[in-house]
Amino acid sequence: MLQRPRRNRQSAVIRSMVEETRLSVKDMMFPLFVMEGQNTQTEISSMPGIYRFTLDLLLAEIESCVKLGIQSFALFPQIPESKKDSMATESYKNGNIYTESIYEISQRFPEISLLTDVAMDPYSSDGHDGIVKDGQILNDETLPVLAKMAIAQAQAGSKLIGPSDMMDGRVGYLRQALDDAGYSQVGIMAYTAKYASAFYGPFRDALESAPKFGDKKSYQMNPANRREALIEAELDEMEGADFLMVKPALAYLDIIALLKENSHLPIAAYNVSGEYAMVKAAAQNGWIDGEKAMLESLLSIKRAGAQVILTYFAKEFAQLKLA
Ligand code: PBG
Repeated sequence: MLQRPRRNRQSAVIRSMVEETRLSVKDMMFPLFVMEGQNTQTEISSMPGIYRFTLDLLLAEIESCVKLGIQSFALFPQIPESKKDSMATESYKNGNIYTESIYEISQRFPEISLLTDVAMDPYSSDGHDGIVKDGQILNDETLPVLAKMAIAQAQAGSKLIGPSDMMDGRVGYLRQALDDAGYSQVGIMAYTAKYASAFYGPFRDALESAPKFGDKKSYQMNPANRREALIEAELDEMEGADFLMVKPALAYLDIIALLKENSHLPIAAYNVSGEYAMVKAAAQNGWIDGEKAMLESLLSIKRAGAQVILTYFAKEFAQLKLA
C-alpha cells in the first residue's frame, strides 16, 4: 500500500501538524442582549447560559469577555411592548436604550468591534422587519426608517452596522444615507443570505419579537435556494457591503462555501440561537458531549469558509483557553 492516510493521524503532534483549520477566539463575534433597567440579568430559558443584561451589568459582562480575549460583539435590544409601534419609532428616538448602550460601550471599550443591528423587529408592534400594511410587508417605505436607525446608531458611536431585515436595496440605501450624514467610515455587514429559518426561535424569545401574524417568508430567503444567494451577494457587493453574512450557519454550510468562492469580501456566518439551543439541550440531557459538539460545529463553520463567526458559544469557547 503506497498511500496510508492513517500515517498522518497516528499521533497528536502529527495530527496537529496537518490540521487544516484552527479556531481562534479572534474568529468570533459574541451576540449580547440589552434591556432597560438596572442591576438585572435574566437568563433566556431557551438559551441556557445566555442572558439579557441591563446596561450597567452589560458593561461588566463585556469587560469580562474582553479579558478572555473576545474583541468583537453584536448587540440586540429587548424593547418593552409599551414602546413598540407599527413604525418602530423607538428605534431612532434620542437616548433609547439601544443608542445609549452603543454610546456607553464605545466610550468604555473603544478598542472592540461592535456590530449594531438595523432592523425594525425589536421595536415593531407587528413583530416584522418592515412596515406592515394590509398584511403586506412594505419594502421601499421601510428603507427610510432603517436609515434613521442607522444614523442614530452611527451618531451614538457605532462603527459597523448590520442590517438584518432583508428588505431589497437596503445596503445601498444605508450606504448612501451614512455617507450623506458624514459617516463614510461606518461599515456595513450585510445579512446577505438570511433564510426564513426555524432556528431563530430562541432569539425571538430573548427579544419577545416573534411576528404577531404570518411569517417572514416574503422577505427572508427560501431554505431550498442556493443560486439565489448569489443574486443577493452580487447586489450587496454592488451596493457597498463590507462583509457578506450567511444565516443560519450549520444548515447552510454549502452557502457559506458558495459565497466564499464567489466573492472577495470577508464572509461571516451566524451560528444562530436555535443551533446553540440544540447543542445545549442535548448536552443537558447527557445525550451528547456539549463541549465537543460546540467545537466541531464552530470548526465546520470556519472550514466552510467563514472568516467571522457570530456565535453564542464565544464566551464558553474563550473560557476553554485552548492553546
Ligand atoms: C431579525 C433577526 C433575527 C435574528 C437576529 N435578527 C431573525 C428573525 O427573528 O427573523 C436571529 C438571530 C438568532 O436566531 O440567533 N432582524
